[in-house]
Amino acid sequence: MSKLKNKTAIVTGGSRGMGKAIAKALAAQGANVALTYVQSKEKAENVVAEIKLAGGKAIAIKADNASNSDVAAVVNETVQNFGSVDILVNNAGIAIAKPLNDYTIQDYEDTMGVNVRAVFVAAQEAVKHMPDGGRIITIGSNMGDNAVSENMTLYTASKSALQGLTRGMARDLGRRKITVNLVQPGPVDTDMNPGNTELADFLRTRMPLGEYGTTEDIAAMVSFLAGDESKFITGAILTVDGGFNA
Ligand SMILES: NC(=O)c1ccc[n+]([C@@H]2O[C@H](COP(=O)([O-])OP(=O)(O)OC[C@H]3O[C@@H](n4cnc5c(N)ncnc54)[C@H](OP(=O)(O)O)[C@@H]3O)[C@@H](O)[C@H]2O)c1
Repeated sequence: MSKLKNKTAIVTGGSRGMGKAIAKALAAQGANVALTYVQSKEKAENVVAEIKLAGGKAIAIKADNASNSDVAAVVNETVQNFGSVDILVNNAGIAIAKPLNDYTIQDYEDTMGVNVRAVFVAAQEAVKHMPDGGRIITIGSNMGDNAVSENMTLYTASKSALQGLTRGMARDLGRRKITVNLVQPGPVDTDMNPGNTELADFLRTRMPLGEYGTTEDIAAMVSFLAGDESKFITGAILTVDGGFNA
């Protein structure tokens, strides 16, 4: 259980949901973890405490993905604490659901800023410190391929944009053996998409497996991509959605 020993991972949005499961999974494999939050200080500190209780190392950093300087500061604080950044997991994301004409320009800026620009800025900063063989793993969505429902234009656009960002960065960083991949979850039971709503009942009818994913299902894929076994996978879009997009 120490395949990531001596590695350091950043997990954005590690206070709840998938980010929490990813932070715990990477720490369980031996990685030092710097997890970020924007509002949930206590929850973030609880994740850090859980990791430490299990024998791992972790810190929580408050950083708003909408702020370029916050995103850059996360990388620097991580390097100050742990000495490097080997694995960057861009997990934090927001979903603003509105009919097209109700969206404001601010909704556009917020969605693109948090879901896309922060990934670009974090990657630019992280690769200044990342050794050869590093990993950049971003959490997109199966909605990057499939506009699943109404009122999700901006979210869908942001998740599609991550596909291009992933492919481009994979080309640029391949010489350094840094792999760049996009994990596209389908419906997963979190605060963003609770599994006990009418929408969830509808979404399950579209899924061959007939059930929501767990945060651990996504963490398992991220954990695999973070390790050595995945070294030949880059520029890939890996959809983990219970068959939704089948
Ligand atoms: N749940 C799904 O069905 C689903 C499906 C496909 C893809 N995804 C994607 O999976 C990722 C994780 O989603 P989730 O369902 O785990 O979401 P979640 O439960 O809503 O958790 C969101 C996390 O992101 C953080 N966050 C929110 N806004 C932020 C900002 N401006 N700057 C920095 N951090 C911010 C939150 O921090 P605080 O706790 O401090 O607010 C929290 O840790 C997202 O990229 C989402 O788009 C989710």
